[in-house]
Amino acid sequence: MKPAIDQLTAQFAADVRADLSSTPKQLQSKYLYDALGSSLFDAICRLPWYRITRAESALLARHADAIVTSIGKANGTIVELGCGSGEKLVLLAEALQARGASAHVHLIDISPQAIEHTEQRLTRLHLSVVGHQSTYEEGLRQAAAARRGDGRMLVLLLGSNIGNFDTPAAHAFLRRIRAAVSPGDFLLLGADLAKPELDLIDAYDDPLGVTAAFNKNLLVRINNELGGDFDLAAFDHVAVWNAADQRIEMHLVSRVAQRVRIPAAEMTVSFEAGERIWTESSYKYEPEQIVAMGASAGLASRNQWVDTDVGFALTLFAAV
Ligand SMILES: C[S@@+](CC[C@H](N)C(=O)[O-])C[C@H]1O[C@@H](n2cnc3c(N)ncnc32)[C@H](O)[C@@H]1O
Repeated sequence: MKPAIDQLTAQFAADVRADLSSTPKQLQSKYLYDALGSSLFDAICRLPWYRITRAESALLARHADAIVTSIGKANGTIVELGCGSGEKLVLLAEALQARGASAHVHLIDISPQAIEHTEQRLTRLHLSVVGHQSTYEEGLRQAAAARRGDGRMLVLLLGSNIGNFDTPAAHAFLRRIRAAVSPGDFLLLGADLAKPELDLIDAYDDPLGVTAAFNKNLLVRINNELGGDFDLAAFDHVAVWNAADQRIEMHLVSRVAQRVRIPAAEMTVSFEAGERIWTESSYKYEPEQIVAMGASAGLASRNQWVDTDVGFALTLFAAV
């Protein structure tokens, strides 16, 4: 299910126009993920300093059986919001098959490459798979509307995707997930935990510069898709720990005073030297904050598995 390309580009142009006109200037993190952005994110997951992917995969591998048992043997549905490369979903799909069970799978991701790669990984497992190249909200709506029969649904929100929402938006998003499922369905939420600032800075401003490339690729994307003339050498990547709000922020900082034309967004944007574009927030949690956030959305924690070394929690919620 692919939306028309022109519609996506028009939305991208409208969002860039609004977000670069706001104070402070910003760009939405979902636009980090075009084909190159998804590949760069996959590379980040392999960096020694970005430990959460390996930690979450290990928790999933260890507890896959307990997780997939939740959806029973027949007519189950798995919906993954922001599937990325699909490596984690494969761990659960293998556990499902080992139990002799099957499920309908819905992949939701704004990046066409993410959907394509996850579909390829799932091919050998012979599951019925539908890809939705869309935002979480639209994909969730489509997946819920396509639901058939009386099987259980398991929604996956992994990789700390929840951390990209600010606190009110994260609560609202969990309520939206709860509204899309039925009592007795499940949400598996993977979330990064608060940890020492230096560990976070290494993870979001790695010594190899892969995260910097991932962040700057947003400007490449604006140049390629909207005809922009951003000079990449005139911006620096920075990662900042905001202790008061418990989040890491990624920004692009203009090295000099400059003007940038973005014809498809019908704008010329001026930057002062040192002015920032805020491109992503990654909120960090305490395990009990995750449980409380679910509870306030009508999701009861059934199990929480924590990697205390890396600082990562996988929480299985049941809709009540
Ligand atoms: C941080 S990556 C995590 C990928 C995967 N869940 C993992 O655990 O490795 C976020 C993924 O969500 C997708 N994504 C980000 N914002 C989105 C949005 N608003 N709607 C749909 N997909 C989104 C991105 O394209 C990307 O594949």
